[in-house]
Order: sequence, then C-alpha cells, then structure tokens
Amino acid sequence: MNYSGILDQIHRDLKPWLGKGRVASYIPELANISAERFGMAIVRTTGEVFRTGEADTRFSIQSISKLFACTLAFQLLGDDLWQRVGREPSGTAFNSLVQLEAEQGKPRNPFINAGALVVTDVLCRRFVKAETALVEFIRRLSGERGIGYDAAVAQSELQHAHRNRAMAHFMASFGNLKMPPDLVVDAYTRQCAISMSSVELARAALFLANRGAVPSTGEQIVDASSAKRLSALMLTCGTYDAAGDFVYRVGLPAKSGVGGGIVAVLPGEMAVCVWSPGLDANGNSLAGTLALEWLTTFTGQSIF
Ligand code: DON
Repeated sequence: MNYSGILDQIHRDLKPWLGKGRVASYIPELANISAERFGMAIVRTTGEVFRTGEADTRFSIQSISKLFACTLAFQLLGDDLWQRVGREPSGTAFNSLVQLEAEQGKPRNPFINAGALVVTDVLCRRFVKAETALVEFIRRLSGERGIGYDAAVAQSELQHAHRNRAMAHFMASFGNLKMPPDLVVDAYTRQCAISMSSVELARAALFLANRGAVPSTGEQIVDASSAKRLSALMLTCGTYDAAGDFVYRVGLPAKSGVGGGIVAVLPGEMAVCVWSPGLDANGNSLAGTLALEWLTTFTGQSIF
C-alpha cells in the first residue's frame, strides 16, 4: 500500500477545505490558531511512519487525553469503572449537563466531559498528581520523553471552566466524585492541555491496534480483550453525538479533541492521527474527518 502517495493526495485534495470550520474559541488560548493548518501521520504496527503536512507540529490534544486517561483508569479498576461511568453514546454535546440529573450523576460514557471528570477523579485518588501521572503514561506509550502540558492553555481554560465546574459539583452531590471537585477540574483541564504532534499521538494510540501492547517496546499496556473494549468505546462514543455519522463515513474507532486532532486505529495495521483546527458543529475537526474518510476510501481499509 502506497501510504505516502495517498497521504500526499489527501493533503492536495483537502486544500479547498482547509480554513473551513471554526476554531474552538471558548478556550481563548486556542482561538488564535489558524484553521488552515493541517498535519497527518500514519504509524504502522511494524514501526513504519508516513507523514504529510505539519505531522510533527505539536497541538493541544484536548479531549484525545480522555482516551489515555480512560485506559489508565481501566488498567486500575477494570470493569468496576463502569459502576461510576456508563458506556453508551450520549447523543448530546460533549459538554452537556442535561442527562446527569435524570441519571443520578452517572455520566453516559468516559469520553464526554462529565465521564472524563469521573475518570480523572479515579486518577486523582490513586496518584498525587493525576496530570503528571497521565503525562508520564503518554510518554511511555509514545516513547517521547519531551511531551508535557501547556500551562498557558490550561490557565486559559481554567478561567472559563464554569460548565466543567458545574458538572463536577453536580456529580459530587450524587456522591460520584470522591475528591474535591475543583481539584478534579484542575487536573482534568491540565490533561486536556497536553501538547503532542500527529506522529506522537499515532504512536501513543498504537497499542490499541496491537492487541494492547506497544509494538516498539513490547510493553503490554492492557490485555487484548481490554484493547478491544477501549476501541469499541471509541467507535460508539469517541466523536460525541456525531459518532454515527463519523463511523458511517470513516469506519474506524476514533477519538477527537477541540484542538482539531483526531486519532483513529485500524486493528492489526496502524494508528493514524490528523490535525486541522477548524471544527464542525459537533466539535470534531472538519477537514480531519474528511481526511480520514478519504484515507479509508482510497485504501479500502477500515474495520468493516
Ligand atoms: O473540557 C473541555 O471542554 C475541553 N478541555 C475539551 C473538550 C473537547 O476536546 C471536546 N472534543 N471535541
């Protein structure tokens, strides 16, 4: 398969779409990034890397951090995690509060903000600094020691984190947060502010395409069955209320973030990450979704 040629073709064909969509402005530090930017990388389980555009430029991973945080919490608690957070698509926006009251403070899944706050609560109970533990975990997954979080992005979001604070306090009122809500919001916001490139993110997600083991080191992060379960969650919940449309178009388990990144996995073959900051109405990268749709269409490779 000529992945290099296919990536270059996608980049060329995408030109009219770059700059479309809206950059996330509710995090002021992200509002000034040009929606025209684009990078994409494929990392195969064999170790081969293919890139196009700004594949080595770091960006704010935002909700993609939820995938790694959930993996770490699942490693710690196993199926007990599902007593506190569900595994059903929410059908509502990633920052919606509406289901929480009817469902007694138990979020639908770990990839919406409310669910990720519960996951972060698990990490805050286990680690002195949850955000540092998560950064360390991601460094192990990707093999990149230089990864860290951007304090300016975290500060910028923390000043406007009213919805996430409301959710955290609301869940605490139902007894579904064990640690102080503001401490959890603080750790969660720092996790979201981790900066990584497309190549680094594809490397970090590669264990999911390799039955739970990091191909380059052989480290077993989760067993093969858990890798299946985490990938299934990405498929049904990783792109919020657009999950149905996304899977219809792309056919891969994926996790998106409002920084414009989307990471996806093709079990047994590769992880792929695309970055383009212009978002669609659901908060997923507009050009990024298109790039992944074209990748699976041109290669004929998807999970279906
Ligand atoms: O909590 C928030 O709203 C952001 N830190 C992350 C949201 C996000 O990335 C949703 N993804 N599309």
